[in-house]
Amino acid sequence: MADVELKKLKKSFGSVDVIHGVDLSIKSGEFCVFVGPSGCGKSTLLRLIAGLEDSSAGQIFIGENNVTGIEPADRGVAMVFQSYALYPHMSVKENMGFGLRMTGTDARVVSERVEKAAQILHLEQLLERKPKQLSGGQRQRVAIGRAIVREPKVFLFDEPLSNLDAELRVRMRLEIAKLHSDLKATMIYVTHDQVEAMTLADKIVVLRAGRIEQVGAPLELYGNPDNMFVAGFIGSPKMNLMNAKVVSHENGAATVQLTGFESAPFAVTDITAATAGQEVVVGIRPEHFSADGSAHINAHIDVIEYLGGVSYAYAGASTDDPLIVGLHEGDNARPGQAYTAHFDPQRAFLFDPKTGLRIR
Ligand SMILES: Nc1ncnc2c1ncn2[C@@H]1O[C@H](COP(=O)(O)OP(=O)(O)OP(=O)(O)O)[C@@H](O)[C@H]1O
Ligand SMILES: [Mg+2]
Repeated sequence: MADVELKKLKKSFGSVDVIHGVDLSIKSGEFCVFVGPSGCGKSTLLRLIAGLEDSSAGQIFIGENNVTGIEPADRGVAMVFQSYALYPHMSVKENMGFGLRMTGTDARVVSERVEKAAQILHLEQLLERKPKQLSGGQRQRVAIGRAIVREPKVFLFDEPLSNLDAELRVRMRLEIAKLHSDLKATMIYVTHDQVEAMTLADKIVVLRAGRIEQVGAPLELYGNPDNMFVAGFIGSPKMNLMNAKVVSHENGAATVQLTGFESAPFAVTDITAATAGQEVVVGIRPEHFSADGSAHINAHIDVIEYLGGVSYAYAGASTDDPLIVGLHEGDNARPGQAYTAHFDPQRAFLFDPKTGLRIR
């Protein structure tokens, strides 16, 4: 197990800068998840740590060692890819032991470690099969097994579950959580899946265009986002972000009036850095609407998505930025009708529309 430390890490492909000087500390044994929009550099960052790409500047430390420029095999990391990348002509057993055999490890040791990994992953009955005789979930387990067998200091996962169906994803997610608690290894995990990020991570790193926007525990990012990007990215459905104006600011409370929606002014408390007349963006999560809230927005509901336990009403569904309201049992919202969505103003966040930063 080892700490991972990135210092001013940069990567360019030709003249295109993809990673712009990333500083990041991951503690030994930590489960760290990278999230961010497609193309923001998650896989590139993982490949830099693995040594599959050379950095353009900066340094990578694993434990005490500066591994910048060192061969992938000598870094003590193992990577699990979305595509599994198993050898079709080898059995499960051979696939799992292959990396270790290549390093010249004694055949008996290889065999012992493969058996142990097979036990952890419930693959004992499948060791003689070829990859094409396995289901997707079983193949993914073999790919993880191959990483375990190498006893790496750091596991790197690049969207390992995204080829699996919903039910299998949930099962594999639980298995990965268990694996982490059993092995106590440092794990770095890339995903597009909000639930995976929130449930697996000790720490989430939100990336945008090759830069870190915020690092924190899942609930810290959810409850205390530093900026509009993180606020909108963490949480599903996405936080509502609405233009507004500060009407007055006194005694640590900013009274704001929404400009795009019909509502009465409401006071957001614990705000020191606002001034009367200032334009702001108000953020309210869909799940934070509730009948007992003292503030309200009058909206015209276009569409309601009924998901069983929860439902979401969309106002302005044809626009890029519909208002999304989480509905509770007994709510009288109907598609095509007016609806008053109540919320507690304490739950609202304020952002500066120019810088995107949180106003506190
Ligand atoms: N070998 C390469 N040559 C040139 N550009 C590359 C190369 N690999 C990646 N890029 C570019 O670097 C940027 C980051 O790519 P990367 O694969 O790291 O994104 P990502 O965050 O993993 O995205 P996704 O969520 O779609 O997997 C993208 O703009 C991509 O086009
Ligand atoms: Mg990727």
